[in-house]
Amino acid sequence: MKIVNVVGARPNFMKIAPLMEAYANDPNIEALLVHTGQHYDEKMSDLFFRQLGIPEPDINLEIGSGSHAVQTAEIMKAFESVILDHRPDAVLVVGDVNSTIACGLVAVKLGVKLIHVEAGLRSGDRSMPEEINRLLTDSISDLLFCTEQSGVDNLAREGIAPAKVHMVGHVMIDTLLKNLERAKSSTIVDELRQKGWIDERGFAVLTLHRPSNVDDPSTFGHILDALEQIQQDLPILFPIHPRTRKNLVALGLQERIDALENIHLMEPIGYLDFLKLNSCAKVVLTDSGGVQEETTVLKIPCITLRENTERPVTAEIGSNQIVGTDPKRILAAYEKTKTGRWREPQIPPLWDGKAAERIVRIIKETIACESGQTV
Ligand code: UD1
Ligand code: UDP
Repeated sequence: MKIVNVVGARPNFMKIAPLMEAYANDPNIEALLVHTGQHYDEKMSDLFFRQLGIPEPDINLEIGSGSHAVQTAEIMKAFESVILDHRPDAVLVVGDVNSTIACGLVAVKLGVKLIHVEAGLRSGDRSMPEEINRLLTDSISDLLFCTEQSGVDNLAREGIAPAKVHMVGHVMIDTLLKNLERAKSSTIVDELRQKGWIDERGFAVLTLHRPSNVDDPSTFGHILDALEQIQQDLPILFPIHPRTRKNLVALGLQERIDALENIHLMEPIGYLDFLKLNSCAKVVLTDSGGVQEETTVLKIPCITLRENTERPVTAEIGSNQIVGTDPKRILAAYEKTKTGRWREPQIPPLWDGKAAERIVRIIKETIACESGQTV
């Protein structure tokens, strides 16, 4: 059975790594890896291939950045030729980025089965580009793998046949569990201590890249109001996403952040260093999807700077508080993390490091059997 697997943006790499490893253990599967090139900076892409041992992509479409329409359309045009050349039995897409929907749409229009890993997540917020990508990808997929029960419930509500839907756990957490021990030997905390950026008080980690937060000067300004207060209490390490880096300048906020002595801007950092920082942090402030889940497994308090989440399990039983961007709410959540009465977070069901194995087994039992192939 031939499966074409798609990655494009940073969070896709952690999700594909354990799947490529599981395929490699199976002589009946030929797995091709296609990188759309949506993310292309060394620190947003190649670094993760090296650190996570992901094989070099068989094909890189090198699409790069663009408006939603341009980026999606260019990926579709280039990916169509890949499918026509390789004629796979299935295309597997992960997550909710533009590469996910672009390649999914191409696959189904050419009659190729579509597999979606991380299906069913819903924020309920259609102004979020990822929410559109999720709804559309799920509605055309043949096999849908969910990370949490809310995903299964959302798909049932939307009328997706239950036989197509499987709760399997989380490939991103497979990667986390596999690399936690390696991450412990990262020297990043010592290096930052030597630089004088962190001290005995500990530190907070911050990531921000959602357009709703960083494309809007007023919202970004509110977040900075809260960070200004927090950094007086605890140093903040801020590995900055390229979208956010550009917007600090474009929105005239660079001088304001530079004036805050205890917020330390860094280049985007590699997976192992980031995992080490998060696992040692007093608190993580973020608008990332994946980071909400990783902090839940690490049991580190997470303050999510968004009005909603498509990953409710992280707030229901994990370490996540969804607080939005009102400085008062952010500061109240921060104070709560300091009381020591932080409730003990639980690990969501099946986040046990075996999601990729389950997925490959189910793919073989369904798609390969339907097409009459030997498994
Ligand atoms: C994308 C995903 C988002 C995901 C995020 C993960 C979509 C719609 N958005 O958002 O769901 O959470 O990736 O990080 O797919 N840029 C660079 N170098 C790069 C990549 C991007 O400089 O390697 C800059 C470019 O100016 C680009 C901007 O960042 O225009 C945004 O990149 P893009 O991939 O369009 O969206 P993200 O904000 O990264
Ligand atoms: N990450 C990383 N270095 C960073 C920031 C994030 O390795 O500087 C990792 C993080 O651990 C997680 C993934 O990138 O595995 C999340 O990606 P991102 O926040 O870009 O996207 P989202 O999850 O919001 O779609």
